[in-house]
Amino acid sequence: MAARSRSILRIIMNRRSIRAFHPKKISPSVVRLLVEAGQRAPCTYQSYSVIIIENEDVKSKLAELTDDQLFVKAPLLMLICIDFRRTALMFDQLTDKHVLRSDRHPVETIEAIFEAGLFAENIVIAAEALGYGSVMLDWALWMNKEVSSLLRLPKGVTPLIFLCIGLSAEKPPLRPRLPLEMILHHEEYREPSAEELRKYIEEASMKLAKENYLKKYANSNKTYLEYLSEKIAVDKQVEKLNSSISSFLNNNGIKI
Ligand SMILES: Cc1cc2nc3c(=O)[nH]c(=O)nc-3n(C[C@H](O)[C@H](O)[C@H](O)COP(=O)(O)O)c2cc1C
Repeated sequence: MAARSRSILRIIMNRRSIRAFHPKKISPSVVRLLVEAGQRAPCTYQSYSVIIIENEDVKSKLAELTDDQLFVKAPLLMLICIDFRRTALMFDQLTDKHVLRSDRHPVETIEAIFEAGLFAENIVIAAEALGYGSVMLDWALWMNKEVSSLLRLPKGVTPLIFLCIGLSAEKPPLRPRLPLEMILHHEEYREPSAEELRKYIEEASMKLAKENYLKKYANSNKTYLEYLSEKIAVDKQVEKLNSSISSFLNNNGIKI
């Protein structure tokens, strides 16, 4: 038992996102096993679905849409969705006036996102246990309308995250994380100082530069600090995009 838990811990502590894969495909039985492992995660209403994408045409369109070649290079591409459609149909069996047919369901919404995350992470860890690497891609949220129509998702099924899985063709180092002291609090919450936060950002930026991270994956000469500053900046265009994403989500039942 101790050896088994040590090996699970080793898997968790050594996982890193993999963005270069050997082309070898993953068999349908392994795909089913991964999804079954995902389903064993703690859950509330199991408001998630996963779509396996094998159609080369769809993959090429996704790559074109996002300018991200992982869509065509990943041996296994899946899209994890929040599925309030099925859950609402299931609730219809119990009562016609239920929370998913009402205008606000903040708890169910947050829990659905949360359980879809647990589902996804279980798949990631199961894949690691079988020797596969993976990376999550958040294009599904940014390009929700395009992804939805490309994959013909019905209303109530919201694209959440793409998951690329395959045999790793790279050995990247562990990526930086916030110091444990910023995450772990005892008895009461401790807010980190501006200096601590700045120090972390600079250290993370240095570590990622050492790996050549942005050059390798985004062909960018920016430092991580510069990249992050740009990524989080808000202008009129970002505000417009966010407002369109919010209404798409709302229309699909993601109501907080
Ligand atoms: C919600 C979410 C969205 C992500 N989106 C992307 C993405 O679009 N492209 C990408 O290359 N990596 C993406 N990642 C992977 C993160 O960049 C990666 O997990 C993080 O940099 C830490 O690196 P590590 O996983 O190697 O420890 C995403 C991860 C999460 C959890």
